[in-house]
This record gives sequence, structure tokens and C-alpha cells, in this order.
Amino acid sequence: MSIQARARSRCSWLPELDTLSGPIYKSVADALAASIADGTLEPGAPLPPQRLLADALGVTVGTVTRAYREAERRGLVEARVGSGTRVRQVGSQTPDFHHLSKADGDSIDLSLSIPIPSTTRAQQLSQTLTKLSSRPDLIAQSLSYQPEQGSPAQRMQLAQWLTAQELPMSGEELILTTGGQHADFLALQTLIRPGEAVASDALTYPGMIAAARQLGLKHLPVPMDREGMRPDALEKLCQRQRIRLIYLMPEHNNPTAIQMSEARRRAIVELARRYDLLILEDGVQYVSPALRGTPFYRLAPERSLYIFSVSKILAGGLRFGALRAPTALIPQLSAGLRAECWSTPGLMGAAVCEWLTSPDAQELIDWQWRELEARHRLLEQHLAGYDFLAHPCGFQAWLHLPDPWRASDFITQAASRGVTLVSPEPFCVGSQPAPQAVRICLTPPPHREQLGTGLQRLSELLAEGPRPSAPLV
Ligand SMILES: Cc1ncc(COP(=O)(O)O)c(C=O)c1O
Repeated sequence: MSIQARARSRCSWLPELDTLSGPIYKSVADALAASIADGTLEPGAPLPPQRLLADALGVTVGTVTRAYREAERRGLVEARVGSGTRVRQVGSQTPDFHHLSKADGDSIDLSLSIPIPSTTRAQQLSQTLTKLSSRPDLIAQSLSYQPEQGSPAQRMQLAQWLTAQELPMSGEELILTTGGQHADFLALQTLIRPGEAVASDALTYPGMIAAARQLGLKHLPVPMDREGMRPDALEKLCQRQRIRLIYLMPEHNNPTAIQMSEARRRAIVELARRYDLLILEDGVQYVSPALRGTPFYRLAPERSLYIFSVSKILAGGLRFGALRAPTALIPQLSAGLRAECWSTPGLMGAAVCEWLTSPDAQELIDWQWRELEARHRLLEQHLAGYDFLAHPCGFQAWLHLPDPWRASDFITQAASRGVTLVSPEPFCVGSQPAPQAVRICLTPPPHREQLGTGLQRLSELLAEGPRPSAPLV
């Protein structure tokens, strides 16, 4: 056996030689990135020793050293003295998807995706509770254990409300949950076995990353473009791996604000049917009916689940949401919810249904959409000329930082000017490097003026460019 053949047989990972083109070190780094993205190389996996890989590829050790350095520069791998080079372990950290403000006293918080603060919310809840307290029938019902799926009356009330919002569904298809995060977790916990794989946009909601990790699922990133998840990349992944479910936010990806095109939705459905994938569509980032596309559960009702929550339209503290599922999956999901907590609290369901279906709630929701439109105009005014993505009634924008800004420096320097932003790291699936981009939430400031001041400071910072860093010795 030749030296090369022996080395090849001992390598734990090998790039496909026929795909190498251009500078070899770059091709090896590209191949590493592809293997990490499709899950062939998992976080923490050791790379072959450099000499072994060099022999296997018939190149010099220097070329492999350069390739590993390039991969390290891209944030794909980390080299440790004594333990060689390994795929980066971003995945072992608990993602920081806190929903409590980190902004200190005077800082302008643009980091959280929360409903626009308004004293009307508390007033409306207070009126709802007063009304509820004069309904002994509803109070008495709340004292009883509820069916796992949730009270049939509440499910019907919610289904009617959603249908009026152009999300037609029936109460039988709904399971009431304690918010959108619970619905995400319930779907994964009940429908996917530990060790099985789920896929999502490469940049996704950190609560989903946390749920998949908590349940020991393989979570694979699928690259996106400005129309959403790329079907060619999803198909490639499906050809290599058995994937059970894809998680999508087609109306408003959190964090990138990308809305998936109709053509893209249909292409994804075709793949889901071909590869027998479930589709978990997260509608928590609630978008006005006039600006919505076709939900997946309407395109492929037999395999799609839809998540609704009142967190972005009424208030996150209510912890109330629902999961729409094909009726064939309802018994399985109900059993999962029963094992967790028997059912969601009937009293909270009664209060939320009463509030949500009132004309007051609709006024509040309409006010928030009008206010968001005005806030988006401010965004366009302050960030004109920069590369950002936004959805007209979305809570956030995604700003690609111009060269040579790095996201970490931008966030630190914004903080020193009294603006709080969140790091892009928690949104990254797997060990892919975070982009040099930041999410800018438009909703936390109670007043538009404050948002304007925050955006003005960011625009000044962008124009000035990063402070030169101290030379390393
Ligand atoms: C896309 C997405 N899904 C789920 C959630 C969690 O929703 P809830 O607060 O209803 O649990 C959020 C919260 O920000 C979100 O952005």
C-alpha cells in the first residue's frame, strides 16, 4: 500500500480530492466548512493530524497548516495545545436567548424583540380580569383539570379569531400551549427522537437552537439567501442525512427579517413531500394579514405545524400560545403535553381569549402596526445607504456592517454610546461563524423619539468607522 493510500485509510475526515480547485489550502478550508455545515463534522470533532492529512492529499504539511489556519480565521475550528485542531464548540454553550432587558438605566435598548411598551396593555388586561371576575361560570370551569389539548371552548374561540385574521383553522387542530417557545419544544420533544436531525435556516431563533440542544437533536443549518432557505442546499442535506423536520419563520425570520417568497415556499413544500419532512412554521413574529404570504400549513396541511403566540401582539408575560397540527398528530402531541404538565392553565386561557377577541385588543394590535410603520420610516431615514433588511411590520432589522466593522466591536462601541444591541452569535446554528451583522430591534423604546436617538447614534458610529485596535505584541 502506498504512503498516500495508508494515510487516506487513517484519516477521520478527508475532503473530496476532485472538488479541490484554486489554492489548495482554501479548497481544504471550504471543504471543512461544507462538512461542518452538513453535519458530517460535528462540534468538537478532531481534525486529522496535519502530517497525516498532508500525506493523504499528497501536499506539503505547510499547505495543511495554512488550510487549518484559514479555517480558524473563519471561526470554524479551534486549535488547542496538546489536543490538536477541533471543530469549534459553539454548540456546547447554552445560547443566550434571554428575553429580559440587559440595557442599564440610561441606555437605549434595541436588543429585545418585545411588543412596543404602552400603558394601554396593562389597562386592557385589568379590564379583562374585571370582566372575567364577574363570570362565575368561567371561573368555576378554570378550577377543573382541562383536557390536554386545552379547553374546547377556548380552542374554538381562538380558531375563530385566527380564521378572521386569515389563518383559517379549526379548534380540533389546535393544542393550547404556554407560549410559542413551549409549542416549539413540544413539537420537537414529541415528534423527533433523540439523535435524529432537524434543519433550519442557518440564522434562526435562539430558542429553537436551545430546544434542539436540550433534547439531544442534531440541528443542521441550511444556507439562506434574500428569499429565505435555499432549496438546493436543503436538498443536498436531505440526500446525505435523514432529516425529520424543518423549522421555518417564512413571514419574518428572526433575526434577519427575511420574508420567504411564494415560489420558495412551494419549492420547500415539494422537497418536504419528496423527502418526507415535517414543517414546523413559527408564526410568533406575527405579521399583519395584508403583508403575509401563504402559510405552509395551507400549502401542505398533512405535514405542517403552525405556531401562534400572543407574546408579540398582547404581552410576552402571558405565556399563552397554540400549536396547529394535522389532526393525525394531535393524539401524540396531546400525550406529550400531558406528560409535561397535564394541560396549560385554564384561567390564563380564559383571560387571554376574552382579551384577544375584544375590540380593544384589535385596536391595540392596529396601533402597534401603525407605530411600527412610523418606526420603520425612522430606520430608513437614519440608516439610508447602509445594507439592511427589514419587513414593514417586523419588530427588527438586520444590518450587514460595512467593512471593516466587526459585530463585536460595533456592539461594544454602541454600548459606550448608550445603545444596547445583541450579539449575532446566539442566532447561529451549529459551529458556523457569526456574520458581521447586528439585529436592531425597533420596539423596546417606549417613544419614537428615543428610538430616533438610538438610531442616530448608530448611524454616527457607522459613519465614523471602528476605533483602531491596540497593536498586539
Ligand atoms: C420566532 C420566535 N418564536 C418563538 C418565540 C417565543 O415566543 P413566546 O414568548 O410566545 O414563548 C419568539 C420570541 O421572541 C420568537 O421570536
